[in-house]
Amino acid sequence: MVCAGLLERGYDVAGLDLAPEPGGFTGTWFTADCADPDAVDAVLRRLEKSGPLDAVVHLASIPDEAPLPVILESHVHTTAALLDAMVDHGVSRIVYASSNHAVGRTPRTGLLSVDVSPRPDTFYGVGKVAAEALLRLYVDRHSLDAVALRIGSFLPRPETRRHLATWLSHDDAVRMVEAALNATDPGFAVLYGISANTRAWWDLEPGRRLGYDPRDDAEVFAPKVEATPETEADRVEAAHVGGPFVTERYYRPGMRRD
Ligand SMILES: NC(=O)c1ccc[n+]([C@@H]2O[C@H](COP(=O)([O-])OP(=O)(O)OC[C@H]3O[C@@H](n4cnc5c(N)ncnc54)[C@H](O)[C@@H]3O)[C@@H](O)[C@H]2O)c1
Repeated sequence: MVCAGLLERGYDVAGLDLAPEPGGFTGTWFTADCADPDAVDAVLRRLEKSGPLDAVVHLASIPDEAPLPVILESHVHTTAALLDAMVDHGVSRIVYASSNHAVGRTPRTGLLSVDVSPRPDTFYGVGKVAAEALLRLYVDRHSLDAVALRIGSFLPRPETRRHLATWLSHDDAVRMVEAALNATDPGFAVLYGISANTRAWWDLEPGRRLGYDPRDDAEVFAPKVEATPETEADRVEAAHVGGPFVTERYYRPGMRRD
């Protein structure tokens, strides 16, 4: 969605994914593991032959709970490999797909600020906290710009009551990445990746200050979502920022791969 959206808006986009090139993709494509520093370095070396690279948009990871070693590789090693390659190749900006689960265990009371302390709800959230910390370190050491997008629920349309607050539409996701790519001197910045939802739980102002102007609102879908009675699961999901990821269903040992 993001690659296609940026291509449509006239950006020169190269994709890097474990998966082969998707049909119809019109940019340059690399099938590689971005936890592998040599593979990432080789990709940037190839790309810089065609001119300087402006930014990395890092969306590659397992977007779910997993054992801690898998999480660390998927979120932390990939981010470190990309940041090292950016420093080596003079790429000055990274836009990172973080998650609300970095602060997911925060009880829901009022509008959530981006300044709230890290409070992950899962190992997945721990991975996002650690990746955000890596961004902060590289910004301080190497004067990079890094924008962490704490994404809510990226879906074609909201499906649950929680989504009425946390939904991020496909079009707004592209607007958000574009804003993060073009914000003036963001240094290290965090924003919440949701649409302009009437029932938003998280503060959109830091994103707006960076130029993110969301246009969609989950409220349009509220009559359909609320046509069925509210359930106990809805009430549990409304209690914490991370919704279902806070529940015992997600409890697991850190190091066992079962
Ligand atoms: N979908 C959401 O609602 C949501 C919410 C919060 C955060 N995020 C974050 O946004 C990012 C994208 O999520 P998504 O829902 O599009 O996930 P997705 O699974 O649809 O896409 C992730 C892509 O990353 C690739 N990938 C995974 N590990 C890789 C590696 N080591 N090297 C190269 N490619 C790799 C996968 O092949 C896949 O194509 C993730 O970082 C996720 O944690 C998503």
